Amino acid sequence: MSNPSLGNVQSLHDDTSRLRLDESALEAAKRSLEKGAVTPSYGPWREDIIKLLNDALATEIVCMLRYKRHYYTAKGLSSPAIAEEFLVHAQEETAHSEQLAERIVQLGGEPDFSPSNLLDRSHADYDESADLQAMIRSNLIAERVAIEAYSQMIALIGDKDSTTRRVLEAILSQEQEHADELSDWLTP
Ligand SMILES: [Fe+2]
Ligand SMILES: [Fe+2]
Repeated sequence: MSNPSLGNVQSLHDDTSRLRLDESALEAAKRSLEKGAVTPSYGPWREDIIKLLNDALATEIVCMLRYKRHYYTAKGLSSPAIAEEFLVHAQEETAHSEQLAERIVQLGGEPDFSPSNLLDRSHADYDESADLQAMIRSNLIAERVAIEAYSQMIALIGDKDSTTRRVLEAILSQEQEHADELSDWLTP
């Protein structure tokens, strides 16, 4: 006589949700040494992650260029404190671009520094406003776009690549600080 509940117990033991390592992936990790730090657990997502990181890299470069432009033009507008803030942000966006490029290489990809289609690949815009408040506003818009893009990337990557996720989380928290600082300068 068959017991239907026994079948359920059996399927629990066969359940793939148990916390066991994938032995065949451990074996596969011993091969393909040319892939460096990239092991089978990256699955089919590695290329998508590299694409996401390259788009973020383009965004960081455009943000660095916009802040540099604003730093040099704001210096002449009797607002040294805001100009200094733009310079600090430019330096931090540069650091972000370096972290992203570093991670792209670790994943076996090529960081795309090409200037030819930089604006097309960037999520944020360049800006040549002459007026301080317009500069602050355009930077705040760009930071909000970056915050949204990084939040979506972190959600998409989830537990597929924890190292990349940590890099993105650290960058995201700095973009949130940038947005916070800019909104303090913005007059309603
Ligand atoms: Fe950034
Ligand atoms: Fe930023």
